[in-house]
Amino acid sequence: MTIPYEHHIFVCTNRRPDGHPRGSCAARGSEALRDALKGKVKEAGLSNVRVNASGCLDFCERGPVVCDYPANMWWSRVSLDDVQDLVAGPLSNAPGCEALRLTESELRRGKPV
Ligand code: FES
Repeated sequence: MTIPYEHHIFVCTNRRPDGHPRGSCAARGSEALRDALKGKVKEAGLSNVRVNASGCLDFCERGPVVCDYPANMWWSRVSLDDVQDLVAGPLSNAPGCEALRLTESELRRGKPV
């Protein structure tokens, strides 16, 4: 089976009403994050990377949340300041952004603390 993208990136852009107890990634700036990530990927010429918006990824309290398939890497509390490091690091198959990664146990538990 052919995998069309080496890194298929999903940026949660779910938005909840102001005051919702879980908050939402869009309320924390994920729409601008998605746009910046798309722009930087294009600028870097990474044709093996596709950036898409997604609905809620269920780590709302840690938003904005970004995940990478099929690598199954997840980053939380991603900001515009992290875009360059994501593109030059993991999305270019280089190390980086470890401090943003959700751990295996956090992913297994399904709910962040
Ligand atoms: S609102 Fe983004 S993970 Fe739920």
